[in-house]
Amino acid sequence: MKAVVDEDRCRGHGVCCTLCPEVFDLSDDGYAVVRVLDIPPESEQAARGAAMSCPERAITVG
Ligand code: F3S
Repeated sequence: MKAVVDEDRCRGHGVCCTLCPEVFDLSDDGYAVVRVLDIPPESEQAARGAAMSCPERAITVG
């Protein structure tokens, strides 16, 4: 499973980094970046939750 952040939609709310810091981080300019190429199985549920909780719907996981 992989995660993608649509950088045109991300507004830096940071919910993703709070819910799933194993996968999402904030860059120096305040937008989400994906830290891993493949999401570890134990983080998949949190990554899905982060995608669903992003107010901008900027995250796709699958
Ligand atoms: Fe950006 Fe959404 Fe995360 S706006 S910082 S991808 S919660």
